[in-house]
Amino acid sequence: MDNRPIGVFDSGLGGLSTVRAMKKLLPNEDIIYFGDTGRVPYGTRSNETVETYAAQDIKFLKSFSCKMIVAACGTVSTAASNVLEMTGLPTTGITKPSARAAVNATKNKIIGVMGTSATINSGAFDDEIKAYDSDIKVVSASCPLLVSLVESNWIDIDDEVTNAAVKRYIEPIINAGADTIILGCTHFPILAPIIQKVAGNGVTLIDTGLEEARYVKEALSANGIENDAEHKGAQRFFVSDKTQNFCDVARVLLGEDISDSCEFIDIFKVI
Ligand code: DGL
Repeated sequence: MDNRPIGVFDSGLGGLSTVRAMKKLLPNEDIIYFGDTGRVPYGTRSNETVETYAAQDIKFLKSFSCKMIVAACGTVSTAASNVLEMTGLPTTGITKPSARAAVNATKNKIIGVMGTSATINSGAFDDEIKAYDSDIKVVSASCPLLVSLVESNWIDIDDEVTNAAVKRYIEPIINAGADTIILGCTHFPILAPIIQKVAGNGVTLIDTGLEEARYVKEALSANGIENDAEHKGAQRFFVSDKTQNFCDVARVLLGEDISDSCEFIDIFKVI
């Protein structure tokens, strides 16, 4: 048994899709979440910058004596995975868990990957999928604008602008006949209803937050570091810019008001 918290981070609020799934699958675990909302987006930056930011985010989370570090950020998972490997703690990003789920889900062996520019340029999903099955065709789409639309809370299923952006971005994936799409940026599961509507019901969407949470559960068990089964898990949220928008989206996504457990931190002072 290990009652230390799990540290989860993202460039912004996308990682809440992982928290949402962790709360369901790991109700006994305490979570410390850091959303680097003052520096979002990460996905349009160089790998070096993403590595620097990720190392600082991890340093902040480690100050809470976390037992595991979860990069709930596709960009960090793919473009800065080397930083994750240096934590000295059990860790995961979204790449392996979601590639595994997509390979299991596809029937026609055509998988679409949506991600940020940094994620798609890294080729990390292609490599991971091909390592499972080299016959699979991967069609990728870099969708940077969707991150800003989610950060702006334009997430309603009928939002015309977001629907139009999704349609334009995923056209090549649909035209290629993909039967499975990896939402390869943790902001995108928040847009799953829109993406499903545009892609059609015959396409399986891989929710990276859910797959990552499943992987965390396996890792806790494999390392024998689950929390006490009697413990009721709690969450604390930290952001590096104003808390309002973060709390608004969290209300929709987590179905609760987190304003009492959400604080601003000046990341430059803490690191
Ligand atoms: N949630 C991040 C990801 O999964 C958002 C990317 C960004 O900050 O551009 O990649």
